Amino acid sequence: MSSKSRPQWLSPDMAAYISARAPQPDPVLAALIERTREETGGAATMQVSAYQGSVLTVLTRAVGARRALEIGTFTGYSSTCIARGLADGGSLVCCDVSEEYTAIARDAWSAAGVADLIDLRIAPAIETLATLSADDPFDPFDPFDLVFIDADKGGYQSYVDAVAPLMRPGGLLLVDNTLWSGRVLEAADDDETTAVIQQFNDRLTADDRFDSVILPISDGMTMAVRR
Ligand SMILES: C[S@@+](CC[C@H](N)C(=O)[O-])C[C@H]1O[C@@H](n2cnc3c(N)ncnc32)[C@H](O)[C@@H]1O
Repeated sequence: MSSKSRPQWLSPDMAAYISARAPQPDPVLAALIERTREETGGAATMQVSAYQGSVLTVLTRAVGARRALEIGTFTGYSSTCIARGLADGGSLVCCDVSEEYTAIARDAWSAAGVADLIDLRIAPAIETLATLSADDPFDPFDPFDLVFIDADKGGYQSYVDAVAPLMRPGGLLLVDNTLWSGRVLEAADDDETTAVIQQFNDRLTADDRFDSVILPISDGMTMAVRR
């Protein structure tokens, strides 16, 4: 686990111990980490950690997900991990606004052999979600078994509101960065994003559509089950 991805709530020794006991990046994921670092500069910190990627694969497999949705794809690390965990016949809708970042993702999906499972939508995610209807009688919607949100923090609440009707009961919602480097404990006076995450966490805790917990994984990942 690099210092970048090591959560501050774990000692370096404990982080290394845990990381060593998770599946390690295969050559495709290792190359994607490297390419993202080389081609996106400082933005590379947006990529989920290798450990978190392994958690995503395990959770996708654990719920037997066949239909999955990702909001915030970047260069494709988390989507590759989710796609690898899908049940036979599974598919993953990916939402992002960047052609540039997702061009790297497309290469990674091809290298990983999961390109055929992925439906990439380039548009603001809230617009893409509006095209996915749960109640068109002429084109019955297949609800999502798993949703991963990792895009603009200001959109988090609207994404949860938009995806809730698109998820099956028992479906798993995962939301990244919900501890915001620990800043959720601080007064948010000077930081709009901290306030947004604090409000988001409080609303999801009280949201009667989900049973949710915040896991101290990476930068905090909320796991919520659709009722
Ligand atoms: C934190 S990164 C995602 C990292 C990715 N999950 C990974 O593992 O590499 C956030 C992504 O959200 C995208 N994004 C930002 N605003 C968005 C929006 N309104 N709709 C869809 N995607 C958006 C950005 O282009 C960026 O690629």
